[in-house]
Amino acid sequence: MKPPRKLHIKSYGCQMNVYDAQRMVDTMADEGFVETTRAEDADLVILNTCHIREKASEKVYSELGRLRVAKDEAAREGRSMSIAVAGCVAQAEGEEIVRRAPVVDVVVGPQSYHHLPQLLQRAAREGRAIETEFPAEDKFGFLPAPKPDAIRARGISAFVTVQEGCDKFCTFCVVPYTRGAEVSRAVGRIVDDATRLADSGVREITLIGQNVNAYHGAGPDGRSWPLGKLLERLAAIPGIARLRYSTSHPRDVEDSLIEAHRDVPALMPFVHLPVQSGSDRILAAMNRKHTCDDYRKIVDRFRAARQDIAFSSDFIVGFPGETEEDFAATLALIRQIGYAAAYSFKYSARPGTPAADLQETASAAEMDERLERLQELIDSQQAAFNEAAIGETIDVLFEREARNPGQIVGRTAYLQPAHVMAPADIIGRVLPVRIESLERYSLLGRLAAPGQARGIEPASSQTATGA
Ligand code: SAH
Ligand code: SF4
Ligand code: F3S
Repeated sequence: MKPPRKLHIKSYGCQMNVYDAQRMVDTMADEGFVETTRAEDADLVILNTCHIREKASEKVYSELGRLRVAKDEAAREGRSMSIAVAGCVAQAEGEEIVRRAPVVDVVVGPQSYHHLPQLLQRAAREGRAIETEFPAEDKFGFLPAPKPDAIRARGISAFVTVQEGCDKFCTFCVVPYTRGAEVSRAVGRIVDDATRLADSGVREITLIGQNVNAYHGAGPDGRSWPLGKLLERLAAIPGIARLRYSTSHPRDVEDSLIEAHRDVPALMPFVHLPVQSGSDRILAAMNRKHTCDDYRKIVDRFRAARQDIAFSSDFIVGFPGETEEDFAATLALIRQIGYAAAYSFKYSARPGTPAADLQETASAAEMDERLERLQELIDSQQAAFNEAAIGETIDVLFEREARNPGQIVGRTAYLQPAHVMAPADIIGRVLPVRIESLERYSLLGRLAAPGQARGIEPASSQTATGA
């Protein structure tokens, strides 16, 4: 038998890239590849790239510089190493990548991962292969399902892509160009994936999509199902204790999603709902197609359905034309909403987007200063949110052994890491924890007697966990 070949894959960017990387590993496993953590040892290195901001995009080229050295070294040892660039930089830059980095053998866009084995063969024959089409077929129909041991190795929390692409065209954003139009997977396929994951020990599923709440997949009844209905269906799968979804757009929040938060206990009360800015003028220039008031009303609808719901968001500072007054409005909105967490970025002009033609008005120093003020405010809100857990008894889904011997770490409903001293057999179970203290962003506590938790867990989780 031939020894297995080795594959090293490095992902940048969003959760979708993490998920896609796993699908590529599964695809190449069928071709006799096993994963390695060391690029130098690999027969195939895949860089799964992100184009969202200039910094992310440029990282690829420094990494390719390092890989050139590794490839030369492999050649000296008589081994061959293939290098593939996948992801959103591959889609956006295509052939330009090979011009800048001739060391690259394959360039493959996010819609063509199922062609990876053929592309590698073509590169071996012809020296190079580039595919950045949006093929008519749905790649998900062709990608192999993960095997139970691959699922177990990835832990008890898994991503499932339910929707891909974006039709919103925010003026700063490359995603509509790199991922194409909004496409939803059929309900039946998602249920099959989730069932397979649950049967292999996964307890928490996060449904992902660039605009996940734009989901409208074909249901088994021949109708188009919204995200809320899909979540309700998935909650009925035995073994699934927790459901999440990300990322949502304020424009696509439908009543069925709000109702799911009211009616489906497995659906975690933590929503990532990016607003980007708190100034209506800037929101209009960003083409977000919602105002601050619309956003506040949406948050109120969620809160009316489930009072313990918490929010996170994304923010951009220094969008062209953003004045100190606009920025102050963003801080005011953050104070009004009160976030449990948030990501914030300095505006980065992206080639091909409408905003790239606008004159940038904030200096680098102003951008730094705004980012710092915004992050300080978010940090104080996050700290207050975390401190509020001290003294409470809350449900934690235990995920793995922590670095400290004897400690097990899990996550609360709000994705806060929580550590307890306990035997490893609690991994995969949802158990109530009495929170005693806070160490940076981590909660520390001890296991409480069952039945004491503030949160509610679904019946299916309780039978499966034996709790
Ligand atoms: N689909 C999601 C987010 C996709 S990108 C949404 O609609 O919110 C993730 C985040 O990156 C965005 O929310 C935005 O805050 C940030 N981002 C996108 N393009 C950017 C750019 N050109 N400069 C800085 N930040 C950007
Ligand atoms: Fe980008 Fe806007 Fe689409 Fe989000 S909604 S992916 S920010 S274009
Ligand atoms: Fe980046 Fe593409 Fe995701 S640009 S954020 S990897 S959709």
